[in-house]
Amino acid sequence: MSERAVERIAELRNQLDLWNYQYHVLDAPTVADAEYDAAMNELRALEDEYPELITPESPTQTVGSFAPSSFPEVHHPRAMLSLSNVFSEEELTAWSTRVERLADGEAVQYIVEPKIDGFAVALTFVDGELTVAATRGNGEVGDDITPNVRALRTIPTKLHTPTMLPMPGTIEIRGEIYMRKSDFEALNRRVEEAGGKAFMNPRNAAAGSVRQKDPGVTAQRPLRMFAYQIGYVLDGEMPETQYDCLRFLRELGFPTSLDAERFDTVEEVWQRLDYWLERRESLDFEIDGAVIKVDNLELQEQIGYVARDPRWATAYKFPAVQRTTRLLDIQINVGRTGTLNPLAILEPVNIGGVMVSRSTLHNEDEIARKDIRIGDTVVVQRAGDVIPQIVSVITEKRDGSEVPYHMPEHCPACGSPTFRDPEKAMRYCTNAACPAQRKERIRHFVSRGAMDIEGIGENLSDRLVDVGYVQDVSDIYRLTHEQIANMEGLGEKSASNLTASIAKSKEKPLWRLINGLGIRHIGERNAQALADRFGSLQAMMDATVEDIKSIPGMGEVLALSAYDFGQESHNRELVQRLTEYGLTVAEEKVVDDSPKPLAGLTLVLTGKLEIFTRPQAEAALRDLGANMTGSVSKNTSAVIAGADAGSKATKAQSLGIPILGEEAIARLLRGEIPEEIAN
Ligand code: IVH
Repeated sequence: MSERAVERIAELRNQLDLWNYQYHVLDAPTVADAEYDAAMNELRALEDEYPELITPESPTQTVGSFAPSSFPEVHHPRAMLSLSNVFSEEELTAWSTRVERLADGEAVQYIVEPKIDGFAVALTFVDGELTVAATRGNGEVGDDITPNVRALRTIPTKLHTPTMLPMPGTIEIRGEIYMRKSDFEALNRRVEEAGGKAFMNPRNAAAGSVRQKDPGVTAQRPLRMFAYQIGYVLDGEMPETQYDCLRFLRELGFPTSLDAERFDTVEEVWQRLDYWLERRESLDFEIDGAVIKVDNLELQEQIGYVARDPRWATAYKFPAVQRTTRLLDIQINVGRTGTLNPLAILEPVNIGGVMVSRSTLHNEDEIARKDIRIGDTVVVQRAGDVIPQIVSVITEKRDGSEVPYHMPEHCPACGSPTFRDPEKAMRYCTNAACPAQRKERIRHFVSRGAMDIEGIGENLSDRLVDVGYVQDVSDIYRLTHEQIANMEGLGEKSASNLTASIAKSKEKPLWRLINGLGIRHIGERNAQALADRFGSLQAMMDATVEDIKSIPGMGEVLALSAYDFGQESHNRELVQRLTEYGLTVAEEKVVDDSPKPLAGLTLVLTGKLEIFTRPQAEAALRDLGANMTGSVSKNTSAVIAGADAGSKATKAQSLGIPILGEEAIARLLRGEIPEEIAN
């Protein structure tokens, strides 16, 4: 067996695990579907060739049932907070004005540190020995990654004896695990020489390396850590300032955020931010901004917190980095509903220390609007962890050899004609039986947000389509034990597990089934609303557009889409079969006469929530009668914005709709309606 294959398989699994984690757990995909599929296909092909290397943890076996709880949980005794952002001098000044007001006459010193773009961890040391290493997780609960951190020689597991203060009985040290740009490039070169595909950026490589199931793999990754905060101290003393915390951390044996400096005025702080912006590219690690903190810890507490952000600190985020490169090609990937999704293939370019070779193109109108031609020199931008984007074309660089791009008239997966929806910017494959679409539909049906059938990952659902066992989702319920057991790489045991989880899925709630059907525009939230309103698939299929539109939050487009679905005879036949196979196609309507103090409110949740998960909060608010919607309109009563809230908050602002912090959720759940809304 070739060593190359072994290494490549390991790389692919790591990369896919990370992408799955980002997608399923963080809900923040960083990769285009086509790229993900290519990695998965390559892994599948290698595993087909070397079936002895298949492990139950391989993403080919587990995708779709990715378990966020694959690490034990750690409850953070003190929540790991996030930071508010400022993007300009005005915003910085506004922030410091508030800080100084809250300081109530006391002189404020600021400390400015680079904001390292890595992966936050909290390390607990008892009597100088590392006892627990945890990820940030949702800020309250993280993953226990102690064995992985112990395996790293670059992170101390035993503290040095300090001189400033006695060694604390217990100290929690917080910081950022990161990968140097040079180490990242070298790692990627090794991966590529081994025939593998490179990591997206140092942050992803670091995050993926830390969250390995096998500490031996983590140990081989060039990870480092900067400490930037003391979480808490028990049986010991805390230094008085952040500046001294950093000194203390260095005494204890930790590298700390580089060149942290103190300033008395916001003007000096602003100059220092400029300095970091200039230094940014010459540093051997990625920084995505700088953090400004009030230096005095006692004053920090006095200034306090709002929702999950400290008011005593903020992050200045650098603008996105742009570079030019050449557009080599445009590839198409076919989505579940038959959409043709274009993907730009770029001449690899280093953007702020990271090689970029792909970017999203959204749709053909965007290609036309930006007049993007193959061979063009284009400006590409990368901001944080998001997928790079083409900003514009440098038309002056054209030499006439550039080729305008036209979306294919025939589906690249099945060859059927494609159809441009005149109302939308989308082009579709017209063949409902297109194998690419079929695979996407099955993948969607079994996925976590839909029927969540454990054991059928993307790999297996594709193969079930390839061998012809599964044509549509109802065929899953006709699979026999023998069919599964005889598939390569599976066996009696997997077949038993799988038939059991398929059988179990029949009892899943109706909304999951509705979501699983993959009706265009109908996701989890709308599926729940449809299930609540109609109580059965049949009733939903028989409903008129008006009926559907009467559901709060269900607009014309959604209602038409759900209605059209019900009108198609093959969909009705499908539902018929699902009913025969015993799935939950109807639900007893529970008569809910609980009080509805929030009736009449239309709320939108946006941004990163810290205390609640979004589905949790939405379900709880809905139970109290609130109408939860996904987009802001003039009918919205209020927007509840967590950290990094984007366009929805901006829109609310422009419509004069109140924007509340996450803490409003707790108040609403107690039935209190904040004044801002009441008025
Ligand atoms: S202070 C409440 N200092 O940025 C204080 N954070 O957006 C929060 N980060 O989760 C942390 N460099 O992972 C702090 N010098 C620095 C940092 C830093 C990077 C990260 C950290 C945090 C995130 C907040």
